[in-house]
Amino acid sequence: MIYTKIIGTGSYVPKKMMTNDDLKEFVDTNDEWIYSRTGIKERHIVTDEETVDLAEKASLIAIEDAGIKPEDIDLVIVATVTPDNYFPGVSQLLQARLNLREVMTFDVNAACSGFLYVLNIADKMIKSGAYDTALIIGAETLTRLTDWRDRNTCVLFGDAAGAMIITKSDTNNIKDVICGSRGDVDDLLICKNVGIKDPVVNAVGMQDHIHMKGSEVFKFATRILPKTVNDLLDRNNMVLDDLDYIVAHQANERIISKAAKDLKFSMDKMFLNISHYGNTSAASVPLAIDQAIKSNYLKKGDKFITVAFGGGLTWGGALIEL
Ligand code: ACO
Repeated sequence: MIYTKIIGTGSYVPKKMMTNDDLKEFVDTNDEWIYSRTGIKERHIVTDEETVDLAEKASLIAIEDAGIKPEDIDLVIVATVTPDNYFPGVSQLLQARLNLREVMTFDVNAACSGFLYVLNIADKMIKSGAYDTALIIGAETLTRLTDWRDRNTCVLFGDAAGAMIITKSDTNNIKDVICGSRGDVDDLLICKNVGIKDPVVNAVGMQDHIHMKGSEVFKFATRILPKTVNDLLDRNNMVLDDLDYIVAHQANERIISKAAKDLKFSMDKMFLNISHYGNTSAASVPLAIDQAIKSNYLKKGDKFITVAFGGGLTWGGALIEL
């Protein structure tokens, strides 16, 4: 039986930081509103860096942390909804930056759930016996898709990348990963590619921005997060008390605390870093896991569930023992 485990993590955020007060320059908002509704105080945003730049920096840290050489990697999957090109993908750009072997690399679009999707795919591909060592990444520059005149959305997002090295193992550490989606509610959270309609007439494409029905997404998130946790526990004959921590997608602190309350799980055991980074989409989960491990919040032997939801609508969760 082939199992999988995490052997290294890394993360990176751009240098430029924007506080809630800084946002007042663009929209009619204030720190009190943003912090009380979301738990966000500040976020990091790109200036001239692209998604691959963030992904590269996070990956180098993860590779060093894992103690492997770039040539050991035989699979690269990047979760992103903010690729730098239609093609080549961030994964291929990254392959060149890291001087990797000519291995399979591809991008996955599942919005904020993206990292759970790439974890699920890489985990199953390694467990099949076909691959040994995967570099998986969530990397986003969502602030490039943000409408900086829309206070409903621009206060929520930040940029970041998180990376993880997973390998085949004799011990069962990545115990279970599940993902799901519902395509019939796409109008709740959407960023259209408006320029591709009637290309002969509309010779110049125009990029759309993120549109969101915030309170509907909130309701969906607070339903799907506890459900995914419970589904994972049921599938693995475990109960909530068996878990040391939950590392949830950092979209909104109120979503995380409502999920904890509904699960009857202590907020002290829900990892939080949203105040410093905002919602970094697919980067949110690997950034949180990396920081939780490096700060010794998560320790070897801990059992935790990581769980996310996002545009699509999509969701995913993983049960992991470090
Ligand atoms: N500053 C000040 N006031 C604001 C701001 C702001 N930044 N944004 C909205 N308001 C106002 C609204 O205009 C509204 O005013 P009105 O009553 O006069 O119309 C009022 O505040 C209340 O707005 P609501 O939308 O009802 O506020 P709510 O409490 O629902 O919080 C929020 C909004 C934070 C967006 C919440 O709904 C939420 O977090 N939703 C989930 C968002 C999310 O997680 N999205 C996932 C993205 S995932 C991905 O894949 C990209």
